[in-house]
Amino acid sequence: MEGVNQSVVSEFVFLGLTNSWDMQILLFVFSSIFYVASMMGNSLIVFTVTSDHQLHSPMYFLLANLSFIDLGISSVTSPKMICDLFRKHKVISFRGCVTQIFFIHVIGGVEMVLLIAMAFDRYVAICKPLHYLTIMSPKICILFSVASWIVGFIHSLVQLAFVVNLPFCGPNVLDSFYCDFPRFIKLACTDTYRLELLVSINSGFMSVGSFFILIISYIVIIFTVQKHSARGSSKALSTLSAHVTVVVLFFGPVMFFYTWPSSTHLDKFLAIFDAIVTPFLNPVIYTLRNQEMKMAMMRVFSRIMGYRQIIKHLTCEQKFIVN
Ligand SMILES: *[C@@H]1O[C@H](CO)[C@@H](O)[C@H](O)[C@H]1NC(C)=O
Repeated sequence: MEGVNQSVVSEFVFLGLTNSWDMQILLFVFSSIFYVASMMGNSLIVFTVTSDHQLHSPMYFLLANLSFIDLGISSVTSPKMICDLFRKHKVISFRGCVTQIFFIHVIGGVEMVLLIAMAFDRYVAICKPLHYLTIMSPKICILFSVASWIVGFIHSLVQLAFVVNLPFCGPNVLDSFYCDFPRFIKLACTDTYRLELLVSINSGFMSVGSFFILIISYIVIIFTVQKHSARGSSKALSTLSAHVTVVVLFFGPVMFFYTWPSSTHLDKFLAIFDAIVTPFLNPVIYTLRNQEMKMAMMRVFSRIMGYRQIIKHLTCEQKFIVN
C-alpha cells in the first residue's frame, strides 16, 4: 500500500455513535445480542443447507450463499464498533480503514447480485415452472455465485483504486463508527469533488439500479401469481413478502448513504441497520416462515443428537472392554 507513505495521517479517529453512557450501554447490549444471534443463525443456515440433501436446490443454495455473505457483513464493522463503544479514543489505522472499505464494498456487491439471483430464481419457479430445472441448473447456480464475487471485487477495487493514493494531511476525524467512502474521501487534502461523484455514481447507481430491478421483478412475479391461481398464490406471496422485506431493509440505508449529501447524523444510525440488524433478519425472515427449512434444521439437530448418543454408546463400550 504505497499511498500510506505520501500521507501524514497514519490513523483515523472515530467519533462513534454517542457519548451518552446510557446510550452506550443500550447499544452495547443491543449490538452484541444481534451480532451473536446473526452469526449463529447464518452459520446454522449454511450448515443445514450444505448437510441436508433435501435442501440441495437452487433456492436453498442461494440462500446459503446469502447467509455466508451475511456472516461477513456482520463481521466487517460491528466487532470493532462493539469494542470501541466504551473507548474514549477510538482509532483505526490507515490500513484498517482501507481494509474495511474494501470488504464493505466486496460484500455489498456480492449481496446485491445474490439478491437479484434469488429474485430470478423465484421468477423462474413461479412464472416458468415447467422449465425450472433446466433453467436453474447447477451450472447456472455456480455461475451466479461466482459472478457475485467477481462483481463484488470489481466494484470495490474500481473505487479503491482512485482513493488509495489520495493525500491525507489534515484532519483525521470521522464522524462515524466505521470507514466508508463519503466521509473518508472528504478528509483528503485535495479537491475531491470528482471522486465523490465517482463514488456516488458507482455505489449509488449500483444500489439504486439493483433496487429497482428487484422491485420490478417482484411486481412482475406478483402479477403472474395473481393471474394464475388463488391457491398457490398465498404461499408465493408469503415467500415474496419475505424477499421484499429483505430488499427494502438492505437497500434503504445503502441508497441513502451514497445518494444523499451526508450532512446529517441520521446515516450513521441507519448504518447500524446494515451492519447488525439486516444480517440478523435474513435467517429469521427466510427460515421462521419456511416449513421445509425448519424440518431440515430439526433433522440436522436430531442427527447431531444421534451422533452424540452413538459416541456415548461407543465410549461406554470401550470402557467396558478396557475394564
Ligand atoms: C453457494 O452456491 C453454490 C452454487 O449453487 C453452492 O455450490 C455452494 O455450496 C453455495 N455456498 C454456500 C456457502 O452455501
